[in-house]
Amino acid sequence: MIDTKETLGQIASTHPAAMHVFLRHRLDFCCGGAQKFTEACHTAGLDPNDVASEIAVEAEGRPVARWDTKPLPEVISFILNRYHEPLRRDLSVLTEAAARVERVHGKKPSCPRGLTECLVQFDAELREHMSKEEQVLFPAILAGGRGAQLHMPIRVMLQEHDDHGANLRRLRELTTQFIPPPEACATWRALYSGLDKLESELMEHIHLENNVLFPRALNG
Ligand SMILES: [Fe+2]
Ligand SMILES: [Fe+2]
Repeated sequence: MIDTKETLGQIASTHPAAMHVFLRHRLDFCCGGAQKFTEACHTAGLDPNDVASEIAVEAEGRPVARWDTKPLPEVISFILNRYHEPLRRDLSVLTEAAARVERVHGKKPSCPRGLTECLVQFDAELREHMSKEEQVLFPAILAGGRGAQLHMPIRVMLQEHDDHGANLRRLRELTTQFIPPPEACATWRALYSGLDKLESELMEHIHLENNVLFPRALNG
C-alpha cells in the first residue's frame, strides 16, 4: 500500500504502477512530482483513498519495474533505449501526420491549425535537450560525477522539462484533449492517439529523470 503522506514523485518511484493511475486522472507526477499526494488528489476533486485503492489494484494486475533501486548506469541505459530513441522516431512520424491533416482538412473548423508548427518547434527543443543529456549530463554521471558538480546541468534540464510540460499542455489545447472529431479520418485519429501516447511516455521519461535519476546523482 502506498504512503499517502508522500509526494506524487515519490509514490511513482516506489510504486511505478501508480503512474498509470496518475496518467488516468491527469495528476502531474513528473514536473509536478513535488506535490503531496493527498493535496494533489483534493485539488483534482478526487478522494485520496479511492486513488490509493486504484493504485493497489493496478500494481497487482500490472507489475512494473522499479528503477529507484537499480544502479544508475542501468537507469540511464533504460532511459536512452526506452524513451530517447523512440521519441525521436515518433516525433518525425507525428509531425508528418499533422502536416497531412492540416493540408487536407485545413478548411474544417475542427482542424488543429498550428499543430504542425507547434510539433516542429517541440521536436527541435526535445532533440536539443536529449543531446545535452546524452553528451554532457549522462556521461558525467556515468563517469562517477555526483553532488555539487552536477547542480548546474541538472538545473538546466529541470527548467527544460518544465518547458516540455508547457508544450504538452499546448498540444492538448490544440487537439481538444486528443479527442478526434466525428469527421476525423484514419490519419487524424492515429495522430491524436499517437500524441496521447507521446504525452504519457514523455511524462514517464521526465519522471524517471526528475524524481529518480537526478536526485540520486545529486545525493549520491
Ligand atoms: Fe531524457
Ligand atoms: Fe530530460
